[in-house]
Amino acid sequence: MSSRTPRRQFLKNTSLAALATSFLGNLPLQGRSNLAQPAAVDCAPTTLDLYGQGPFYTPNAPLLTESLLATTGEPGTRLVLSGRIVSITDCLAVIPNAELDVWHANDAGAYDNNGFNLRGKVLTNSQGYYVFETILPGKYLNGSRYRPSHIHFKVTPPGFPALITQLYFEGDTDIPADAAASVTSGTYNASFRIIPLTEGADGKLEGTWDIYILGDGVSSVPDLHLDKGIIYSLGPNPFRDRVAIFYGVFQRALISLTVHDMSGREVAVLEKQELLPEKYTAVWEPPAALPAGHYFVALKVNDLQVHYLRVLRQ
Ligand SMILES: [Fe+2]
Repeated sequence: MSSRTPRRQFLKNTSLAALATSFLGNLPLQGRSNLAQPAAVDCAPTTLDLYGQGPFYTPNAPLLTESLLATTGEPGTRLVLSGRIVSITDCLAVIPNAELDVWHANDAGAYDNNGFNLRGKVLTNSQGYYVFETILPGKYLNGSRYRPSHIHFKVTPPGFPALITQLYFEGDTDIPADAAASVTSGTYNASFRIIPLTEGADGKLEGTWDIYILGDGVSSVPDLHLDKGIIYSLGPNPFRDRVAIFYGVFQRALISLTVHDMSGREVAVLEKQELLPEKYTAVWEPPAALPAGHYFVALKVNDLQVHYLRVLRQ
């Protein structure tokens, strides 16, 4: 059984195809000009926010399952954020297993300071990508003014110090008067932390934000074809009954998303049709009779296997 959620205009103002290609290691640095953010200086570190961590951080937030920061019943406009964590010592290297500890206000502008609603952690995958779905944060008063809609990030590459900062959204009318979001130079420059959002066909907003930070980067495996498509994440992993797979297609092509056992035998076809360049979600609910163990989910573009991720069924 499978379902998918196409999100249109995925490539409207950010070319993830170019973005994926740019870290394959075979492009000159000026390829970075195609990245999601207007990177004025190659590998310029992502900046701190003037307001720092703010007063509403709660430690020990749970790891997200199915990449959902907001439950499906959470009021508000759905928002899907994705991007990469890139090493500032090597612009073409990405950082796997970096932890993003994320928190933000609900649609009404309130933080959950008792529990972990709209708080959670997500890890980058082996290609340095993260993805999560949440809602557009509401605004709250800071003195007599509303702070612009923002998401707090605490990003920790393995073995390196955390970067604590905030992300804003283009067109927010409260940015110019906000002491932090309006900073355009220096240590707290927020210019590259204001991202455009586009609306998908399913009504969800989409944004891409790459984070440049000190950490141990790895170059992507050259025999993958991540300029054509990628599986961003799957989860929960391990799983028992149901696993969600987030993937992106970067060119119009015949796309197949299949599941194989460790001997290579195909055990499920989650998608097989021509698709447009967008982000998609598939769900695998294997029959109870399928044995526990490791499986791998494979993404093919015109019969070329571009990526796979392993998943453990318990
Ligand atoms: Fe905040």
